[in-house]
Amino acid sequence: MAATILDGKAFAAKVRGQVATHVAALKAGHGIVPGLAVVLVGTDPASQVYVKNKGIQTIEAGMASHEHKLDAATPEAEILALVARLNADPAVHGILVQLPLPAHVDAAKVINTIDPAKDVDGFHISNVGLLGTGQKALVPCTPLGCLMMLRDHHGDLSGMEAVVLGRSNIVGKPMAQLLLGESCTVTIAHSRTRDLGAVCRRADILVAAVGRPEMVRGDWIKPGATVIDVGINRVAHPEDATRTRLVGDCHTQSCAEVAGAITPVPGGVGPMTIACLLANTLTACCRAHGLAEPDGLAV
Ligand code: GUN
Repeated sequence: MAATILDGKAFAAKVRGQVATHVAALKAGHGIVPGLAVVLVGTDPASQVYVKNKGIQTIEAGMASHEHKLDAATPEAEILALVARLNADPAVHGILVQLPLPAHVDAAKVINTIDPAKDVDGFHISNVGLLGTGQKALVPCTPLGCLMMLRDHHGDLSGMEAVVLGRSNIVGKPMAQLLLGESCTVTIAHSRTRDLGAVCRRADILVAAVGRPEMVRGDWIKPGATVIDVGINRVAHPEDATRTRLVGDCHTQSCAEVAGAITPVPGGVGPMTIACLLANTLTACCRAHGLAEPDGLAV
């Protein structure tokens, strides 16, 4: 393997450390404790794991964690009323409603009920619009984490050719906006793009976020490119049918033979998402109180 492995686990620990230092200073200097409220509706196992990890890391960073676990059958009106209460609660600086929501709930309506100043997921249409117009926003956590890793590795990204594979609202679209904000030349490619391989081979920066296990192989990579693999796919273990393993959207080994740098799966982008959630909560708290924001943790 020729590529530098970009260690997201270590980088996320560093970001969490920066957040914790700033939180301690907020407490000592102003008596303010940033608070993050997480709303989980139902018992989706993956969501339960995420929410548990979020709670643990929120407390480790010195913040207050407010968890609201609701039955899967909770009426939409009750969820909207809870969001309204959290909007009005001065101890809550960030609100995250875990997705997916049950089918009877209009997820867009719930998200757009969150106060945009507390929307630490960056999914509210106000934050989407602010990001799209280059204004100060709360930015979705996973693309923010990818950008932090890219800035850390490259410094200035301007003029680089970036290809984002995937057009989701959570990763692909905001990632493309962030890269545009860094003055990259940005292409969004997706399942209907003709000759995906040729498009990917143009990329100095390739961000893969399509949810297709190991779809990107080494022959799609421009020599020396930086590959950010956002995929987290659970697949059958090749040697043991009773086990599974995690793979990304990129075939790490063949891509690493060509790339200059690559994020592994697991241990690449994954740990950055919660680190950026904590960073966004801290940013929202500082903005709510008119205090200086920590450097490098927001855009
Ligand atoms: N479900 C999977 N990822 C996310 C995320 O980043 N935010 C929310 N709210 N739900 C999710």
